[in-house]
Amino acid sequence: MRHNASSPIGIFDSGIGGLTVAHAIRQLLPNESIIYFGDTAHLPYGDKSEAAVQAYSIKIADVLLNKGCKVIVIACNSASSAAYELLKEYTGKRAKVINVIDPMVKFLSDNYPNRKIGLIGTKRTVTSNVYLKKIKQLKKDIELVSLATPLLVPMIEEGFFNNAISSEIIEKYLENKLLDEISALVLGCTHYPLVKEQISIFYNHKVDILDSSQITAAYLKLFLEEEGLLNDAKNEEDHFLVSDYTDSFEASTKIFFKEKVHLEKHLLWD
Ligand code: DGL
Repeated sequence: MRHNASSPIGIFDSGIGGLTVAHAIRQLLPNESIIYFGDTAHLPYGDKSEAAVQAYSIKIADVLLNKGCKVIVIACNSASSAAYELLKEYTGKRAKVINVIDPMVKFLSDNYPNRKIGLIGTKRTVTSNVYLKKIKQLKKDIELVSLATPLLVPMIEEGFFNNAISSEIIEKYLENKLLDEISALVLGCTHYPLVKEQISIFYNHKVDILDSSQITAAYLKLFLEEEGLLNDAKNEEDHFLVSDYTDSFEASTKIFFKEKVHLEKHLLWD
């Protein structure tokens, strides 16, 4: 299907964490229509093999392409690290693919040369070393140290944030010597903005806590402007699809999207 400026923006994640990115996009680009896909049947991606995440990502891209999306935003660090290059090749001229890692790497390069930066994320993201590889290419002398914090996603999904239990888990992770004397901490997972304030409190607000949602939305806006693909009036309702529906997923959308949205079930495989 051919796309134009009035075509929707496709956004996907392993589940509903990517709604933090969708929310930032809607705030910055209110005239755009959004089709969001949360692969709730297969989450978490952070513990899956690269091949599995690639297979899911291709299936989701098919859904979004069939709906005529002009751009696909991978609102998940785990999928961005495992499947971005493949998706770019797969979609070709049919749609532009944007991930959540490149906008952050560009932001670090512009704002933190010669500094030590920490990164927390899922096992998939951290073991891929993708941030480190991209930062090294910039030759800005940024030292990046990465720590996998796999308990944070299930913790947040279960509603444990802004409480004593989540503070304790966050503290145990961030006490790691590896993260000593960092200037900024990258939240390398789209679920983590929900614990951004708690993390900032751990550092007495002395370390910049960077989440990719606004940075990715700004990157997307610039791309749409450059390509003449900005929509001047919203012409379609937003849709939020999930590969597995539960009432609890729908209830949690309020936490990530700041308002409850209706989730529509859309199977990835028949
Ligand atoms: N939101 C995903 C990410 O950014 C993590 C959730 C998962 O492991 O599926 O990495």
